[in-house]
Amino acid sequence: MRSEIEHMKELFGFLPITEYQLDIIKDIIKIVEWHPATHYLVLDLGCGSGRLLNLLANEIPNILAVGLDLYTPPINMRKTKVLNFVVADTLHPPFRENIFDLVIMVNFLHHLVGKTGSKSKRNIEDLLCFTQRLIKGGGILFLDEMAISHKAGRSLLFWLSRLIATLRIYVVFLGIHGQVVFFMTSNELKESILDTGLKIIKIKSLPSKQKFLFRMFFPNGYHFQVRTVAKKF
Ligand SMILES: C[S@@+](CC[C@H](N)C(=O)[O-])C[C@H]1O[C@@H](n2cnc3c(N)ncnc32)[C@H](O)[C@@H]1O
Repeated sequence: MRSEIEHMKELFGFLPITEYQLDIIKDIIKIVEWHPATHYLVLDLGCGSGRLLNLLANEIPNILAVGLDLYTPPINMRKTKVLNFVVADTLHPPFRENIFDLVIMVNFLHHLVGKTGSKSKRNIEDLLCFTQRLIKGGGILFLDEMAISHKAGRSLLFWLSRLIATLRIYVVFLGIHGQVVFFMTSNELKESILDTGLKIIKIKSLPSKQKFLFRMFFPNGYHFQVRTVAKKF
C-alpha cells in the first residue's frame, strides 16, 4: 500500500495550473502595491507544489517567495530559482514576526482538522492569529478558501471524511481524496479574520470548483469559494 506521503504528493504535488489560479494571480497583482525598487517577501502557507508562487514570480520579478507545506513537493517542482520551500506544520510556523509583505493561503484552511469539529475550527482561528503576527505593518493576507453555507451539513462531511480517511479510500477523480476536511461558513471566516485585528479590504464569493461526487452531496449554492483580502494597519 502506498504511504500517506506518496499519496499526498500525488494529490497536491501535481495540481495543474488552471484558469482559476491565473485569476487568483491577477487579483493579487491588482491588490498589492509593487514598487520595482523594493523586494517583497511573500509566504504561501500550504503551498503544495508552489504553483501559485511560481506564477506570481513570473509576473513580479522582485519577490522573494517562500512556500511552506507539510510535505516536500516532488523534485521537478522544486527545480525553480524563485522558490524557497520550508517543510513544516503551519500551526508552528518557523518564522519571525512582522516580516512578510504578503501571505497567501489558497484552499488550505479546511485541512487544519483536529479531533472534533470545534477543535478544527479553533485550529483555523489560531492559524489566522499566527498569520496576522507574521505579516508586517501595511502587509496583506490573501485568502481563497472553500466555505459552506450552513453549519448543519459540515459535521456530516467532517465525520464522513474521517471515516473515508480511516478506511484509506482514494478515488481522486471522483473527489474522494482520503483527506479529512472541515469547512467554515463565510461569516465565520470573516469574523475570525477580523478577530485577529486585520482589516478586510475586499471580499467576494465565487462558484465552487469541487468535483462530481462532492457536488452530488453538496449542490452548488451550498458551498463556494470566498476570496478575502485583509490588511494589517
Ligand atoms: C488543496 S492543497 C492546496 C495547495 C496550494 N495552496 C495550491 O492552491 O496549489 C492543500 C495543501 O495544504 C497542505 N497542508 C495541510 N495541512 C497542513 C499543515 N498543517 N501545515 C502545512 N501544510 C499543510 C497540504 O499538504 C497541501 O499541499
